[in-house]
Amino acid sequence: MTTAVLIVALSACGTPSPSADNTSTAGVPTAAETPAPSAAPRASLSTGTIPAPAQRTPTPVETSAAATVSPDSPVATPSPSVPASSPTPVAEAPAEPAELSDPESVTVVVNKRRPLNPVDYFPSGLVLPAVPLAVQEPNALLRGDTAAAVEELFAAAADDGVGLTMVSGYRSYQDQVSTYEHWVAQHGGNTDEADRISARAGFSEHQTGLSFDVGQADGACTLSSCFADTAAGQWMAANAHRFGFILRYPSGAQDITGFSGEAWHYRYVGVDVAQAMRDEGIATLEEYFGLPAAPGY
Ligand code: DAL
Ligand code: ZN
Repeated sequence: MTTAVLIVALSACGTPSPSADNTSTAGVPTAAETPAPSAAPRASLSTGTIPAPAQRTPTPVETSAAATVSPDSPVATPSPSVPASSPTPVAEAPAEPAELSDPESVTVVVNKRRPLNPVDYFPSGLVLPAVPLAVQEPNALLRGDTAAAVEELFAAAADDGVGLTMVSGYRSYQDQVSTYEHWVAQHGGNTDEADRISARAGFSEHQTGLSFDVGQADGACTLSSCFADTAAGQWMAANAHRFGFILRYPSGAQDITGFSGEAWHYRYVGVDVAQAMRDEGIATLEEYFGLPAAPGY
């Protein structure tokens, strides 16, 4: 394996960390058993620009013609004010905002219960950000909006004397197939271990072009848990939100995100959402948008 290929493979998910938050995910089914994504939102904690499900105006429950008819009446005579075709009212949960499942949206939520749709989604408009790279160019592509924000982020870090480098950007469905297989092999075929650190193909944020793995310019602690303690890791943790990025897999949140902590994996969500999550102390997209936790497939 060449150095470049190794970097690509490593950047898929980073070096497994033995930290306490990296508890094993038991009972992970095989890929063939992978279910469809859940569509049931929970109550929201959000006050961001894009309202969470519970804050959005719910779909009005239409008045039923049946409700205007006496149960004793042999003929269902509709009320003049109610169309005869009105459906029977049912207690429905508010529809989930389309932005949360649209892979073109900056607020799409991808996790173990929310595969990309289609699973082999390919983002349009990928560009190479003008920042230092620790990976070959095809593996550093990002969506245009994300690339522009990354350039601002890296420039601001440099102004503060912190050197950043891009370790991984967009990854295709096939890239992720190879990446996941690499990590399964690294763990002797143990998919439970691989699933803690690497997404299966069709379930990785890297496939959206909205995520990237960041490193320190000198290569210290690249894709390792100790990255959190580097100047780059600390600068990112303190400032990324100002440019629209969130730390997608916080340490200790595996029961929600499905993955052990990745101090290097950042996700573009836009400044409004990133700032709101920061202000409200909400660590994960699942909690912010009131979505079910996704500890496993
Ligand atoms: N390491 C992250 C979860 C990925 O593989 O997308
Ligand atoms: Zn990543």
